[in-house]
Amino acid sequence: LNQEKSFKIRKEIIELDPYVPGEQPGDPTKIIKLNTNENPYPPSPSIDQATREILDRGLLRLYPNPNSDSLRVALASIYGIEKDQILVTNGSDEAIRILFQSVLESGDSYAYPDPTYSAYPVFADTTLERLKPKPIPLREDLSFDWEKLKKTDSKLYCFANPNAPTSLLESKESVLSFVDSVDGMVLCDEAYIDFAEPGSSLIQETKSRMNLVVSRTFSKAYSLAGLRVGFLVGHPEFIQLLYKIKDSYNVGMLDQSIARAAVLDQDYFQDTRNKIIQTRKDFREKLQSLGFFVPESSTNFVFARPPKGISPQELFEYLKTKKIFVRYFAKGIASQFIRITIGQDEEMEVSVQEINAFLEKQKPDL
Ligand SMILES: Cc1ncc(COP(=O)(O)O)c(C=O)c1O
Repeated sequence: LNQEKSFKIRKEIIELDPYVPGEQPGDPTKIIKLNTNENPYPPSPSIDQATREILDRGLLRLYPNPNSDSLRVALASIYGIEKDQILVTNGSDEAIRILFQSVLESGDSYAYPDPTYSAYPVFADTTLERLKPKPIPLREDLSFDWEKLKKTDSKLYCFANPNAPTSLLESKESVLSFVDSVDGMVLCDEAYIDFAEPGSSLIQETKSRMNLVVSRTFSKAYSLAGLRVGFLVGHPEFIQLLYKIKDSYNVGMLDQSIARAAVLDQDYFQDTRNKIIQTRKDFREKLQSLGFFVPESSTNFVFARPPKGISPQELFEYLKTKKIFVRYFAKGIASQFIRITIGQDEEMEVSVQEINAFLEKQKPDL
């Protein structure tokens, strides 16, 4: 190694606190995996044909459609928006990154409720130096402090709605009144919106607002986390500007085709969504009967605070020894909770049994 040289790399990258995704163990069939909000059901069977067609015809030798046109047509018809309002991306993570890169300039502030999806500050830090993050703590009831967010007078506001890790949905009215009261750009990340009350999405509101964009993903309700497809929806003129900075071929041919088949199979989509919502209801009730505080979830996970005297971190570690992976965040208000993804009914039953066993063990110490 020629040690007289040094790597040429930005100081911010060396100092960056990276986003840490939930663990992806080698063989997921040997554990109950409730740690990264994946869907426990397989994707629509209609994706098989979409895949086979491309492989059988040897089409992968060609570059994909650069703008994911067929997928955008399908999305536009399903969501009742215009094709030009949509930018398809490599997971919604890319959508968020493109937005940050396009909106923020050195010295700008960006605000977000804390906690929310913890990747936002990482996208910002890797975009530019000297950005000013303005994390605004959630109120005691875990809702957003809209007044304080507004007072930051930021160039960009970003949050997940429903929020992660809290699972709570902010009403459409409160988000819209915030959007209308600020000058900055607002990113409403709807990664989990399919698990909320129908009609909660702001996707339709983007056309009439210059400062609202919505991100969506195929990773959760469409069971396609392994594919990496997401999209951003906004005012058509704004979205067209973002096309300038995306990679030419940012979404693969198989990805476009599989995502299209999945979105067109709305019956299958509704079916799995409804199953998850029913399991969520049963699981929440069971946790509540064990003394947990579990806010009403609008997502495919619950945020659960164990009964008094029970350490969430110890519970998290105990479950891991039983090969049940959930998520624990050691920071701030989230450190009082564990986040548990909704799996299939049998997985949740085993989880309840193990949680109960842990509580029983702690009893003598209570
Ligand atoms: C709130 C939120 N937004 C975005 C993402 C990223 O999703 P994708 O798989 O589309 O990149 C996640 C992933 O867990 C998330 O929780």
